[in-house]
Amino acid sequence: MIRKISIDDLKPGMEVVKLSSEMWEHMPHLYARPGVIQSQEQVARLKEEGYRQVFVQIPGENKGLTDEQRLDQLIADRDAIPPYKEREPFARAMRSTNVTYESAMSCAMRIVNDAKLGRKMDYQAAVDTASAIVDCAIRNPDTLVCLSKLSAFDDYTYTHSINVAAIAVVFGEYIGMTREELVDLGMAGMMHDLGKTSVDQRIVNKPAKLTADEFAEMRKHPAYGVALLKASRDIPQRVLEAIRLHHEKYNGSGYPGGLTRKDIPAFARIICLADIYDALTSNRCYRDAILPNKALGIMYGMREQEFDPLEIQLFIKCLGIFPSGSLVQLNTGDYAVVRESNPGKPLSPRIRVILNKSMHPVRARDVDLAQAAEPGEPALEIIECADPGVYKKNLLSHMTVN
Ligand SMILES: [Fe+2]
Repeated sequence: MIRKISIDDLKPGMEVVKLSSEMWEHMPHLYARPGVIQSQEQVARLKEEGYRQVFVQIPGENKGLTDEQRLDQLIADRDAIPPYKEREPFARAMRSTNVTYESAMSCAMRIVNDAKLGRKMDYQAAVDTASAIVDCAIRNPDTLVCLSKLSAFDDYTYTHSINVAAIAVVFGEYIGMTREELVDLGMAGMMHDLGKTSVDQRIVNKPAKLTADEFAEMRKHPAYGVALLKASRDIPQRVLEAIRLHHEKYNGSGYPGGLTRKDIPAFARIICLADIYDALTSNRCYRDAILPNKALGIMYGMREQEFDPLEIQLFIKCLGIFPSGSLVQLNTGDYAVVRESNPGKPLSPRIRVILNKSMHPVRARDVDLAQAAEPGEPALEIIECADPGVYKKNLLSHMTVN
């Protein structure tokens, strides 16, 4: 656990943690050179130099907490301390995430087909896929956020399961889950709707409102999913619980149990966030996709009903107000694609300007909106998200080249 303490409480042996440089702007008297404090003299010197606060790693503070309490603690602490994380350059990380996405899609197809044919799931293939998704999130989480919207695959059954895994893992990584937890979370994302294979496909694919009976059948899909997976004895309990409870809601209005926040495990709450975000931002047979920033706005409006207010705020901070992969219009009228978020500056991501105001291609130009404009250049800002429409394929090409 990382804690902010007064420099007066700093002692030899304590480990100072590295933080994002944005923290220094807000806390000029923060000492943040990483490493173990060697002596009382070093502490005295830091005091003399005017430092007043420091973030330190407190070992063993989590001892005695259950996994569930520890995850709650991570969520509660996440907002205060954005730890510094080294990321792989975006374009390079995008190329490997692209490869992972393609093989993850094949894995999702195999899992669904095995379930439909009553065959036992290839458990190791699912673990390997979830693990590869976790690797992508550690290398550069924006690449997963981006591909969840720009991948060339368009069969919702499969894309949705991989997107939910990807978005859930990105959020889990953001709050500081362990690698083991992230892999299980990815598995839960991949398989959260597997039970829909046991529901009459005319109900699953019905483009109109479901009747009461049809809806009652649809509500059984979490239980059907768990039943399908029970044959695989290796599946961790927290994965099964997340699948069973991913439609429970903060205020108790969900199903199957009508549980409230305190009784819904963190894994299920995170899958629920990722599930609704991807459902809103995907094209469905009955409506067009909602733009990512609008979807996040809608989800924020659902706080205290569907979602824990703190968790939906963190989710928005994690993805950015303008998530990677979004097409945005600038104050100059030009259009740009969002490549990477800037931690701590959700309105100012790194973008690539690609179209003029008439939507004609221009020579691509990279701009970090968090940096001041060059002398003589206009200060750029994002006015709104735009519908990429026919440009969607074109956007992806701008993600994998430097
Ligand atoms: Fe579901």
